[in-house]
Amino acid sequence: MIERRFTRIQTALPGPKSAAVLEKKARYVAAPLAVYAPFVIKESKGALIEDLDGNRFIDFSGGWGCLNVGQRDDRVVAALHDQLDRFLHTDFTAVPYEPLVELAELLAARTPIPGEVKAAFFNSGAEAVENAVKIARAYTRRKAVLVFDNAFHGRTLLAMTMTHKADPYKMGFGPFAPEVYRLPYPYTYRNDVTAKEIEQRLLSLVDPSDVAAMVVEPVMGEGGFLVPPDWFLPAMRELADKHGFVLVFDEVQSGIGRTGKFFAFEHFGITPDLICVAKSLGAGLPLSGVIGKAEIMDAPVKSGIGGTYVGNPLACRAAIEVLKAIDAGGLLDRAVHVGDRIKEHFLRLQDRYDVIGDVRGLGAMVGMELVEDRNTKRPAKELTGKITQHALRNGAIFPTAGLHGNVIRVLVPLVITDAQIDEGMEILGEAFAAVLD
Ligand SMILES: Cc1ncc(COP(=O)(O)O)c(C=O)c1O
Repeated sequence: MIERRFTRIQTALPGPKSAAVLEKKARYVAAPLAVYAPFVIKESKGALIEDLDGNRFIDFSGGWGCLNVGQRDDRVVAALHDQLDRFLHTDFTAVPYEPLVELAELLAARTPIPGEVKAAFFNSGAEAVENAVKIARAYTRRKAVLVFDNAFHGRTLLAMTMTHKADPYKMGFGPFAPEVYRLPYPYTYRNDVTAKEIEQRLLSLVDPSDVAAMVVEPVMGEGGFLVPPDWFLPAMRELADKHGFVLVFDEVQSGIGRTGKFFAFEHFGITPDLICVAKSLGAGLPLSGVIGKAEIMDAPVKSGIGGTYVGNPLACRAAIEVLKAIDAGGLLDRAVHVGDRIKEHFLRLQDRYDVIGDVRGLGAMVGMELVEDRNTKRPAKELTGKITQHALRNGAIFPTAGLHGNVIRVLVPLVITDAQIDEGMEILGEAFAAVLD
């Protein structure tokens, strides 16, 4: 057993101060905003969280993938302080400001799409996805949208329709948006699919000349950390070119360095027409964007896209520093190292526990899928919950994923140290032992 240097559980969870807040939360905050952690945060830095009662945790969730540069990166904090002393809001379309323009320029320079590239900013991932579809529809003057099995694109009406998992994301929320068609995504551990089968499904569902856009996650996030085989994204690029629709990569979870490249699609040798980004772009501030070919981005009518708060100056200042922090900290290489180290731990656990059916990932987007037995591969949702809850109560926060909630995934800040990884992995190992041995 390694010495606990970063985690410390010194009260029952929740401790008394957290419990008081959680009681009020139950009384005043709408119940659907259900919380995962049995404690309330006091402060955080890097990959570490301290709660109101002095308990300390290693956060492998990274605020659900929003903190690739870590909590309160020094550059981000300094830029935010500086911006606080200048101005907070104008609405960019009323009175424009430099940080948004600078961010668009920096992102265009990082985007390997050939030709001129432009960006537009929004607040959330769902908004980026909705706007990518609006832009593609305006450009193609077509209506249909292709999405995939296991996809997660957000919770607004169109994004929710595009999302696969009904429980909880669609329960009681219909009617859904029209003209959304779902195709199989390669899930190599369970049911593989070929490019031909995907095209056949497309042709059986919709006239391809009615399709405005295909929206696809280059690595499936909420859907279970599915890394597609090398042929998949190039084959989708071919389909888009053949049928004349816009290829949109939803990089909300997989982007901003998570997989060891700035965009996950850079592993696969093709480029999309539009890219959706959010989460780690703003280092915790609400910011999302659509980046893509200028002629497509320019297609909607003037003021057809936008919103009061989109590209908020504070969030843009944070994002500019995120891009600098990725370079200064060598975080793309770090993502590969973090992912390799976690994968090694996961594989060691897999040798020991038959319930770990699959270990997979790209860079620091790593997950393990838990099954009742390796032959039937029946998803072990309850067990996954027991193990992650045990780890959580002992100092390590691991989110789950997958259509059946049976994947333990890692979205840890890339600035996590090796010693912190090892301590968190020991806590996870103890959770497996406590539940299974
Ligand atoms: C791939 C993907 N797209 C879109 C979204 C929606 O983002 P938001 O919750 O910011 O609306 C998410 C959120 O998890 C996501 O993972």
